[in-house]
Amino acid sequence: MASFHNKLFFSSLLIFCNLVLEVYSRGPVYRPPDVELLTDRFSQVSVAQSYNVSFGGSNIGVTNNGTSADLSLDKSSGSGLVSKSKYFYGFFNAALKLPAGFTSGVVVAYYLSNADVFPHNHDEIDIELLGHEKRRDWVLQTNIYGNGSVRTGREEKFYLWFDPTEGFHNYSILWNNHHIVFLVDNVPVREFVHGNAIGSVYPSKPMSVYTTIWDGSEWATHGGKYPVNYKFAPFVVSMRGIEMEGCVLNQRASCSRSSLSSLDPVDGEQFAKLSSQQMTGLDWARRKHMFYSYCQDKNRYKVLPPECNAKQ
Ligand SMILES: *[C@@H]1O[C@H](CO)[C@@H](O)[C@H](O)[C@H]1NC(C)=O
Ligand SMILES: *[C@@H]1O[C@H](CO)[C@@H](O)[C@H](O)[C@H]1NC(C)=O
Ligand SMILES: *[C@@H]1O[C@H](CO)[C@@H](O)[C@H](O)[C@H]1NC(C)=O
Ligand SMILES: *[C@@H]1O[C@H](CO)[C@@H](O)[C@H](O)[C@H]1NC(C)=O
Repeated sequence: MASFHNKLFFSSLLIFCNLVLEVYSRGPVYRPPDVELLTDRFSQVSVAQSYNVSFGGSNIGVTNNGTSADLSLDKSSGSGLVSKSKYFYGFFNAALKLPAGFTSGVVVAYYLSNADVFPHNHDEIDIELLGHEKRRDWVLQTNIYGNGSVRTGREEKFYLWFDPTEGFHNYSILWNNHHIVFLVDNVPVREFVHGNAIGSVYPSKPMSVYTTIWDGSEWATHGGKYPVNYKFAPFVVSMRGIEMEGCVLNQRASCSRSSLSSLDPVDGEQFAKLSSQQMTGLDWARRKHMFYSYCQDKNRYKVLPPECNAKQ
């Protein structure tokens, strides 16, 4: 009996110590619920074939025979890539490994935009990874602008459930006529439904896909309290596992925008709604990891944007 109790005591102690160690060394380990792997449904394309330089070409290195790239930010410049094609809708993924160490003020952005073609009424769907003044608290911010609605910020912010500097993780945007879904390692973290409330503010003109790294000193880390410290430069983001599939501008015959067709790779029925498994993932991500939503920001919006109250 005594030895049984001893064993129990020691194993409890062990579990407790492990817990303490885990919390103090790298935070608790969160395991997301299982979700279907959307990224497995599409084939990967090379960086060289699918992207052009957008800016800072001398800070971009294409590696692994064109399949991956390193983009850096130093005192002289940031850098960015832009897709060769424009899309009416699609599924877009990049596996990114973020710069380690002190990265306050640094912004890594993976986004869709058509600001180059529609400067006054552009659309934009953003994933922005915001650096930090500590060791590993990267923030994931999502945002949406439709038809020039830039005065209404629709930000939502999350902490990640892993260290994004230790390895590659998938960041994806699904955008079609039904909804916009932001996913991290295939777990939906935000769904923006194309309901009546949103109306003309839903992004609906063709967009290009961008991956960029730049200096966001004025706002990125605690509202600009911590600017970029170039003592720690260069800041390098590595990208691979590129997927871009959907309705390409100038190849309209290949798209079925109006009718649901299961043959269509992204606008088919399985992309029109989240599955129950994905809803479980979405719920988990929002309950455990979201720390800001514009829909809960009553200081900023005396009257919340209409979609916040709408039953979508
Ligand atoms: C990212 O997606 C690719 C393709 O589906 C997959 O092989 C890889 O394991 C994913 N990475 C993570 C961290 O989920
Ligand atoms: C490098 O890429 C080219 C073009 O995509 C391909 O033909 C070639 O086989 C690749 N080489 C290797 C070693 O993978
Ligand atoms: C991408 O670069 C190629 C070669 O420089 C150029 O012909 C093409 O127009 C560019 N595409 C876009 C969308 O800028
Ligand atoms: C987008 O905004 C422009 C004015 O900037 C307006 O003329 C147009 O009708 C809007 N588009 C939609 C789809 O509402």
